[in-house]
Amino acid sequence: PAADNTTMFLFGASGDLAKRLLIPSLYNLDREGLLDPNMEIVGVDISEGDDDSFRDSLTDFIAEKAADKHAEGGGNGLDETHWREFSQRLHYMQGDFTEDETFQRIEEYIGQREGKNALFYLATAPRFFAEIAENLGQAGLLKESSDSYRRVVVEKPFGRDLESARELNARLLSVMQEEQIYRIDHFLGKETVQNILVARFANVLFEPFWNNHYIDHIQITAAETVGVEQRAAFYDKNGALRDMVPNHLFQLLAMVAIEPPASFSADALRSEKAKVLGAIRPWSKEDARDNSVRGQYRAGNIKGESVPGYREEPGVDENSNTETYAGMKVMVDNWRWVGVPFYLRTGKRMSARDTEITICFKPAPYAQFRNTDNTNVDQLGSNYLVIQIQPNEGLWFDFQAKRPGPTLDMDTIKMGFAYKDFYDLPATTGYETLVYDCLTGDQMLFQRVDTIENGWRAVQPFLDAWEEDDSVDGYAAGEDGPESAHEMLRRDGREWHKVGEVTGPGKA
Ligand code: BG6
Repeated sequence: PAADNTTMFLFGASGDLAKRLLIPSLYNLDREGLLDPNMEIVGVDISEGDDDSFRDSLTDFIAEKAADKHAEGGGNGLDETHWREFSQRLHYMQGDFTEDETFQRIEEYIGQREGKNALFYLATAPRFFAEIAENLGQAGLLKESSDSYRRVVVEKPFGRDLESARELNARLLSVMQEEQIYRIDHFLGKETVQNILVARFANVLFEPFWNNHYIDHIQITAAETVGVEQRAAFYDKNGALRDMVPNHLFQLLAMVAIEPPASFSADALRSEKAKVLGAIRPWSKEDARDNSVRGQYRAGNIKGESVPGYREEPGVDENSNTETYAGMKVMVDNWRWVGVPFYLRTGKRMSARDTEITICFKPAPYAQFRNTDNTNVDQLGSNYLVIQIQPNEGLWFDFQAKRPGPTLDMDTIKMGFAYKDFYDLPATTGYETLVYDCLTGDQMLFQRVDTIENGWRAVQPFLDAWEEDDSVDGYAAGEDGPESAHEMLRRDGREWHKVGEVTGPGKA
């Protein structure tokens, strides 16, 4: 059903997030009939402009994007009639986020609207989050009534360490209730991520094995082929750990590791996530250094094209020691997972784009099979379950099968489920579900204060250890992290699942 009528104020309307993802996702929602026909979207930003110029700049951008997508074989192109109608609901308010006057104008705007619901989306630089929220609060704009809501959406980074995350949360919570805050992690907008809960809790098959009796270890990988792109100014101050681990990778970890929630409500689910993130062992600084790897890409080759090293990228300090690869081992100290390492890695300029969770099961307890010369088969292969988040969305399971023939030989083969075989995945921005949920008041896919802080608590030892020793190990662009990352697993008698391995049924 269509969401209730609201006015959405989009702070940072001239920025990239608004243009590339938010407006297109609102447009897609509207196309599906999921927005109220009277909803208005008001872009707020410091740059000069009016309704017309705002609409024009978006029209050009969206037409171009739709054409590109269409040319690549995805998307339906732009429905111009619909876009023209939709764009009439876009408005622009030039305003300074730090001036009271901007917030007075917002109040007046809502005053002349029939419905008084308002969604404030902070698509701005992070330094404005707390200040905008406080200004909204001071202007009385966050007061809800029995027939209207006021909600604030924020997107990472939520701070840059535990202390600053706490401070940001405290400032947000000083002007509104937790129920009014929607902290977005865009990974939770991915179908494959939401599907982890369905796979685990709508089937009887997986859960009996989902524990330290049967699972040897778990790997979580977010590999990218892109470099730092146009974001050096942001990235060089943050690095791969802050950019990806306490948020995206920990959300994946939480989805695979949580206990079944008592109900399928936002708070029941989020409580389980907070618990499991809270159970991550706080390493000492020494253990954190020993159980982690910082890497940085050097010049190399991506798909046959030579690319510069990180330090040669425009906007990056030539002596920068910012990590573009982070790898680490974390332990989840609870009844289900004690003794099962979770190996996490993420990096730019790796060999392939590949986000996946690999569950590595323990080998069968006894190998009773004999080789043809009558000696014992000394090692059986392990069963792997690969949850492929993107691309090639699906679920793949490696297991042993007898090779046809008179002798007893085994192969590791694959069973699999590929989304594309069952569903037409529409071309989306990945934000549609999340934006719709903000409009309908469903916090299930949003981060609560305690999941954010437990996430930062778990990475803080790595931040501390890396501040003391910020050396980085180089890897050539196109390689899957530095040698030390492979060494970290070898030390434990394990190895990383190959990045970008062609998944799907067939020979493993
Ligand atoms: C963002 C990070 O949050 O996630 C980027 O800031 C990263 O550095 C991106 O590239 C990855 O998201 P996705 O959806 O492309 O896997």
